[in-house]
Parts: sequence; structure tokens; C-alpha cells
Amino acid sequence: MADKPFGKHPDFIVREMSPFNGGPPLNLLVENQLTPTELFFSRNHGDIPEVDAASYRLEVSGLVEQPLTFSLAELTSRFPSVDAAATLQCAGNRRQELIDRKPIPNELPWGAEAISHAAWRGLRLSDVLAAAGLAQGAAHVEFIGLDETERHGERFNFGGSIPLKDALSGEVLLAYEMNAAPLEPVHGFPLRVVAPGIIGARSVKWLKEIRVQPEPSHNYFQRVAYRLFPPDVDSQNVVWEQGMMLNENSLTSVICTPAESENPPAGAVTVRGYALAGGERSIARVELSADGGRSWTQCELLGEDAPGIWRLWQAQLDLALGEHELVVRAVDSAANAQPPDVEQIWNFKGYMNSAWHRQKIEIKQSD
Ligand code: MTE
Repeated sequence: MADKPFGKHPDFIVREMSPFNGGPPLNLLVENQLTPTELFFSRNHGDIPEVDAASYRLEVSGLVEQPLTFSLAELTSRFPSVDAAATLQCAGNRRQELIDRKPIPNELPWGAEAISHAAWRGLRLSDVLAAAGLAQGAAHVEFIGLDETERHGERFNFGGSIPLKDALSGEVLLAYEMNAAPLEPVHGFPLRVVAPGIIGARSVKWLKEIRVQPEPSHNYFQRVAYRLFPPDVDSQNVVWEQGMMLNENSLTSVICTPAESENPPAGAVTVRGYALAGGERSIARVELSADGGRSWTQCELLGEDAPGIWRLWQAQLDLALGEHELVVRAVDSAANAQPPDVEQIWNFKGYMNSAWHRQKIEIKQSD
């Protein structure tokens, strides 16, 4: 099989080469609680910058008492290192199901593979902000990357912001290691934000600057993109400022195996997948149906019960010959449930698909 770029696994699904975008096949994604780096999805809006670690500097500016500049060595020697597992998910994960309802032009047709889970090592954003000291009026923390992209004839660096209360939570990391190795270039070497519970777009890679501001980032990817609109809004009638700026992930759950093409034999079939809750919430329950949602089986939840991390799950179904529609749905620790279909949540940018996930399988006579 042809070599995949950026050290990715031979089976990695490349959705776009330039900028590089892709993710793992779902059967491999669900094999490990920690996604191996070669399978970890990647979402990029521009070219991958090559950063020289020795001359790299991080700036902390804006509404701070003391603007600061750090080399990597200064960051790692001054601030305690923290280890944390966290899941990243793109706001466009599961867009293809929305596209199946109604076309969404000019956006990546992600399946359910724009999500992965890794062990990160880094420093706490809150420690760095405390060192700079917050000035009066500080309310949002903007992150700016070293990569450049172009929209409407203008070149600019990728960026976005999170509310200050999230930035101060102690959960947001400035990570320099992923799965016990320095960050790979495609994942943000030498330093990136990891903001658990928040859409992947705010986990800015190749972090160049942290700017404390009174309002959210004016970057295109906060001001225009990554906003949520009602189903009747489209590119013709959109008023960008009226869209909701996305921040926390929504609740989702997905069937990863068996795949539609698998045709397992009749009898006991093990079904496996993932579920993720947003913000500070965790997964309370995952349920699976083999009859399109009329009756439900409780799934076994694997791994750790904690906010900001996914929950792999499995269940055994007894399936007879013929076609079945498998459906999964989850409930989170705030008792939020998922909508049964994409009808109410369809939006013309194709973000935050939180609908029940459905998978058709056919059980065939074994030879
Ligand atoms: N940071 C920079 N600088 N440039 C980007 O294009 N993409 C964002 C985020 N950080 C992006 C970025 C998006 S949309 C996502 S989902 C995550 O990175 C993906 O991180 P990964 O490529 O490590 O999986």
C-alpha cells in the first residue's frame, strides 16, 4: 500500500491532500482507548509549518499586566508539567450524514472519523496566564497559530478563542508531547493548545501567540467559520454575526463496528463504538437498538468516566438473518439526550451533528 504522508497509517483515510485532512477507518479507531498517533485524525486549514524548536518563541500579550515571551526551554523549566488524556473532535465530525439529508457544498464530507483520543503532556494555560497577570476587562483568550491560510483574498494566521472561565479551568494544556513523544509536525510541533470538551478548532496548533481580550477572537475561524445557524439559513441569506459561536462539543455517539460492508454471520454480534459529551460533562449511558430504535440494549462502557474524554462502548446483539438497522444514542451526566435524526439540527456549514447514529447491516447465510 502507498505510504501515507505525515507518518500516517497505510489505512488512514485522506479526505484532502492540501491542506492535509483525514482520519482513521472506524474499525481501527475503536481498537484502542488511546489512538496511536499514526491513526489520530488531522484537520488543517493551511500548509504544515516547519518550526525550528531552538528559535521558537511563544508570546503572551493583550490584557495582561506583563506581556511575556518564552522559549520552549523557558516554558518547560518555569511551569510544572502535566499529563492528561483528552479527546479532540472536529465540529465537522459526521458531516456526511448531514450532507445525505441536503448538500453542504465546500465543506469536508467527514464520516465519523474526525475524532481521536491521546495522552498529552504539557503545561497549564492557567499557570501561564497567572504568570502574565490578568488586566481589567479580560474575558476571552485568543490563540494564534504560525500557519497561514487564505480566505476571500486575504492571508492570515489560523486562530480562535475560548472564554476566560474555560481558559482558567486548569484543564486546558499547552501541550508539547502526544502519546509520549514530541508533537508530530502535523499535530502542532512544537506547542499546541489542547482544550478538552471544546470543539477541536480552538485547540490551536503551532501556537505563536496567546492574546487576552475583552471579546472573542476576530479571526475568520471565530468570527465567520465555526458558527451554528438554524436549518433555514443558507449561504444566500446568512447574517454571520447572528450565528452562535461554537465552543463546547455537543453530545455524540457512533457505531464503529461492524461496518455496513462486513456482513457478520447470524447469532451473537459484538457492536463497538464511541461516545463523547461536551464541556465538563461525561457519558452516563449508551444504548443500542437493532430494530431502528423501537427497543434498546444497554451498552457496556469501557475506560474511565471523566469529562472531556471519549467513552468506548460495546454490546452483544443476537441477530437473525436479514437486514437490520443498528442505532446508537447516549445520555450525558447533565441528562442531555441526542435528537433521533438530523432534521432539527441540519445547518448549512455542517457542524455539530449530534443525531442518533444509524448503521445498516445485513446478516447473510454463512457458507
Ligand atoms: N491550529 C492551527 N494552527 N491550524 C489549523 O488549521 N485546525 C483546528 C485545530 N487547530 C487548526 C488548528 C481544527 S479545526 C481541529 S479539529 C484540530 O486542530 C485538529 O487537530 P489535529 O490535526 O491534531 O487532529
